[in-house]
Amino acid sequence: MKIRSLVSITDYNKEEILEILNLAADFEANPNRKTLDGKVIATLFFEPSTRTRLSFETAVNRLGGRIIGFSDSMTSSSVKGETLHDTIKMVGSYADAIVMRHPLEGAARYASEISPVPIINAGDGANQHPSQTLLDLYSILKTQGTLENLKICLVGDLKYGRTVHSLIMAMSHFNPSFRFIAPDELKMPDEYKDFCRKNNIPYEERTELAGNFDDADILYITRVQKERFLDLIEFERVKNVYTLKKSMLEHTKPNLKILHPLPRVNEIAQDVDESPKAYYFQQAQNGLYVRQAIVSKVLMNVPIF
Ligand code: CP
Repeated sequence: MKIRSLVSITDYNKEEILEILNLAADFEANPNRKTLDGKVIATLFFEPSTRTRLSFETAVNRLGGRIIGFSDSMTSSSVKGETLHDTIKMVGSYADAIVMRHPLEGAARYASEISPVPIINAGDGANQHPSQTLLDLYSILKTQGTLENLKICLVGDLKYGRTVHSLIMAMSHFNPSFRFIAPDELKMPDEYKDFCRKNNIPYEERTELAGNFDDADILYITRVQKERFLDLIEFERVKNVYTLKKSMLEHTKPNLKILHPLPRVNEIAQDVDESPKAYYFQQAQNGLYVRQAIVSKVLMNVPIF
């Protein structure tokens, strides 16, 4: 039997993405179903996390499965020099699936090639964060009523922000247009702009935030990823480059929704939280239902409703 991991959002075609979103809606209507009775899921977090780890663990608990793992790799034998190879081989002999976050790009793909059980990528360096992307799609679909023909502004750290990289690839199924808003130091990498060109996805680039999102359906803001900078002086220069304020929403579309994968630092002022256009906390809640759907698909790959 083929082991079905989720390493990159490109592992799922359009039909499979829509299947996950449908399943997530079913879980939102009824989150407590004991479909993972007897299953053990390992969460291996080699980098910090609040939402991703806790929502995966809540998803498994609500489905009746059990969790093993670590939230801090400093408490694991990797500090003694154990390789990722050996950790995955061993944990794969304990658990039915592994949810892993790792700082190295490609670590999840490598793990999926040696693991005896499915790997769910919970973020690998600046590369991919596919479960975040699926919850982003679910949030867009819920708020806009469609995924088709939307104008999406991606703002902030487009260089290191893995969520925007995954989102571009996923939205390519739905005829989007993008505006990339970033300082020169954090511009969208060429490989993703090449991807847009090859897939006939229109995009523009801007360096100013104000006045550049009045025509947007989705304003997707990201944190400047301090942990990816080799030069902290450069981080200091760009860390507060944009702050969205409530007053900046005055001329935006009525159905604009502001998304952010969180955590936020300074990029969204707290007064924005009062706006009905702010959707980032509901977006994080949606992660629970989407991760229930992902774990169910990866472990069972059968309709469960
Ligand atoms: N969005 C996200 O990945 O959040 P955490 O880092 O808290 O998991």
